[in-house]
Amino acid sequence: MSDSKIRVSKGNQAMADSEAVLATSRFIHRKILVRLFLGWLSLSLVIGGLFLWLELERIKQSVHELALRESAIFNGESAHNLDRLDSAAYQQLMDLARQLVNQHFLVVELYDRNKQLRLEIIRPGHELAEQDINRYRHRFPKVGEFSHEFHYIRGELLLVILVPLRDARDSLAGYFEGVYQVDRETRDSIMEDLGRRLVFVTLGITFTTLLMYPIVLTLNRGLIKLSGDLLKGNLELISVLGCAVAERDSATNSHNYRVTLYALRLGEAIGLSREQIHDLITGALLHDVGKIGIRDPILLKPGKLTPEEFEIMKTHVPLGVEILSKSSWLEGARDVVEFHHERYDGSGYPQGLRGEAIPLNARIFAIADVFDALTTKRAYKEPWPVLDAIAKLERASGSHFDPRLVQVFATIAPGLYQEVSGLDAYRLEAMLRRRIARYFLATAIGAGVRDA
Ligand code: C2E
Ligand code: SIN
Ligand code: SIN
Ligand code: FE
Repeated sequence: MSDSKIRVSKGNQAMADSEAVLATSRFIHRKILVRLFLGWLSLSLVIGGLFLWLELERIKQSVHELALRESAIFNGESAHNLDRLDSAAYQQLMDLARQLVNQHFLVVELYDRNKQLRLEIIRPGHELAEQDINRYRHRFPKVGEFSHEFHYIRGELLLVILVPLRDARDSLAGYFEGVYQVDRETRDSIMEDLGRRLVFVTLGITFTTLLMYPIVLTLNRGLIKLSGDLLKGNLELISVLGCAVAERDSATNSHNYRVTLYALRLGEAIGLSREQIHDLITGALLHDVGKIGIRDPILLKPGKLTPEEFEIMKTHVPLGVEILSKSSWLEGARDVVEFHHERYDGSGYPQGLRGEAIPLNARIFAIADVFDALTTKRAYKEPWPVLDAIAKLERASGSHFDPRLVQVFATIAPGLYQEVSGLDAYRLEAMLRRRIARYFLATAIGAGVRDA
């Protein structure tokens, strides 16, 4: 490689790195925003709801007090003999009741201590209201208590109260029942007041949440940088390991990057979960790591391998599994490394697994691997035209490969090949890093959310 080429490569490398770090920080910013929004929403609902409930209780309380105060005129002297009314006393009570009906009450009724109706006045024109709420009435309270219920009927806020009446010696004389109407202005001003307070509360929560965003970002700046560095480090390590063998095998890392991109796209096309794709990527980057243990005369043989040589070549699979077993972090890669040479009809190696018994990621990867092996130059073969390679995959559908996967891959392969085949290793790496950051971050941060 000439000096200038190295410099260009280094430049690309740095670009790829900063893009990965940028993708990390974008990802985390978005995550924080989404969580803040969810926090805002639940706070608004909980605090708003609680506030609304408290306010309504307060309003009920004050309306109830209003009604009680107005009906208090029946207590004491005037309540003394509801069960034995002479006409003068009756007339007096009637006058008091009419007074109330002229103010806020639609209906006023008096019962004696045996709960017999003694007197009823309905505000003219409100007989209907009386019928409407009839079914809610006559809930006689226990001695010493009162009952009240709000009803919203025909646009009117009505309060039905039933209070025991006391005579001058403070013993039970009867009951007062009334339908209290909250007048329009009072109601409107209550609602306006309530609305204003609710808006105020919501604005307060929103403002606090907005203030939280820069604070959370500042507090997490170190964490965001660390995440980016960790992601970079992890990817680099996998890359280095995967490329160590590629350096011997084919002089460039391109094969690893290309098969990873192919497998990733196929995995996305069939809707794999984030965790599955994460493992597919790791597996693809490391699929032939075991070739490190294959001697050069076999690995680099320009011609066809003898059966004995091929038996040795096959050991790259168990060798790879052994290498992976040293890192729990690489566990997810195992399906691909261990089973990428199995075939759908059971004729593959090392175990001869058949059909769905082969892990899905390995079935996906086998297609990507062979497609790239066919379309690129190997020590032992020339590259095939892309359409021939696709035709080959389709011929081997059901024998070597999972037919459903071949069908999907055949539709995306031509475009994918065009996009990927002309790129050098550095461009491929940059493209890959951009595309896989989200999968690694998502699994690292442990988010089950699929939206970001
Ligand atoms: P590889 O070169 O990465 O190839 C991976 C897989 O792609 C191969 O797995 C095979 O399934 C498919 N493949 C590659 N080239 C061709 C081809 O020309 N025609 C067809 N139909 N399929 C192809 P396989 O066969 O298990 O080989 C595993 C590895 O063994 C290969 O990895 C390569 O490194 C080595 N190998 C296989 N055959 C030969 C050979 O004849 N000569 C040499 N020097 N190496 C070979
Ligand atoms: C390879 O065989 O994987 C390297 C050739 C290329 O970069 O296209
Ligand atoms: C071949 O037919 O050359 C091998 C079958 C395959 O790798 O799909
Ligand atoms: Fe292999």
